[in-house]
Amino acid sequence: MTPRNNLHNQYRINETISSPSLCYRRNVKPLKPQDFVLPKPPVSTALTRRGLVLGGLGLIGTAGLATAAYGVGIEAEGLVVTRYRPKPPEWPADLRLSVTVIADLHAGGPNMGLAHIRRIIAEAKTLKSDLVVLLGDFFATHRFVTERVPHDVWAGELAQIEAPLGTWAILGNHDWWYDIDGVRKALARVRIPVLENDAVEIAHQGGRFWLAGIGDQIAIPVRNHRYLGVDDLPGTLARIDNNNPVILLVHEPDIFPNVPRRVALTLAGHTHGGQVRLPLVWQRFVPSAYGARYAYGHVIEDNRHMIVSAGLGTSILPVRLGMPPEIVQVALGA
Ligand SMILES: [Fe+2]
Repeated sequence: MTPRNNLHNQYRINETISSPSLCYRRNVKPLKPQDFVLPKPPVSTALTRRGLVLGGLGLIGTAGLATAAYGVGIEAEGLVVTRYRPKPPEWPADLRLSVTVIADLHAGGPNMGLAHIRRIIAEAKTLKSDLVVLLGDFFATHRFVTERVPHDVWAGELAQIEAPLGTWAILGNHDWWYDIDGVRKALARVRIPVLENDAVEIAHQGGRFWLAGIGDQIAIPVRNHRYLGVDDLPGTLARIDNNNPVILLVHEPDIFPNVPRRVALTLAGHTHGGQVRLPLVWQRFVPSAYGARYAYGHVIEDNRHMIVSAGLGTSILPVRLGMPPEIVQVALGA
């Protein structure tokens, strides 16, 4: 039996349909607009600078060229820190916890070379969170890579962030599609544990909480934009054997409708917040079956909370527009 057949028996198939160069999961239940809140992109100094840069470039070229130059050369190499203070009902008010979220690093030039990675790591270290989580898609796989950053190098940089409660990782679809063994080995060499359909209970400030992570939902391409998921949410949650609060790490946010209220907070990446937010049409290009619904930010549905990071790198094209690279810091508890 091949490894793929093993996985096929072990996990479910995620149905997908094709779209322009992106994949979407099918069988989703549409909600009405009043059922969810569309988050806004972050306000940042990088965004403020965009107006000035675009204005300057507009004097010497067309608006289209200026926008492209901005998206490739300036915004994609920017950095903001986006902070959230969610109040999920399942999280104890007296358990204070700060979490740094690093998502979708996509290490590799032109916009995620080693110098920029080191800048990100330096910024993340200043946040001094209790816990660091890495949400997968660690290296660049688009066809425009100009600087290769070896696995051991980006992993070594990430390991330097450090936190009292440790750094924990999950794996993303690009890790699976292009070099899953290399990513696993690199993370293991720097002693960053991977939570793959697993949960750990962590003691903190006299209390305890669970940190859980699931396997990637579109890990293995099958054919015609269909993928085999290695995610096992029920199995992961079955490992939680007491009532302590739960933080769940997922790469793709599309699993959120299946996440029970028992989970206090879900943290996701993958969408890059839309990455290129061209007016009117960007929602169509979000790699999610739900379009804008889970594209970015703090989502609250049915008293369940999820934060979707815009991530740091780029995929498909080395461009960002209207959605700068971000480190997320989440503060839980009063
Ligand atoms: Fe991804």
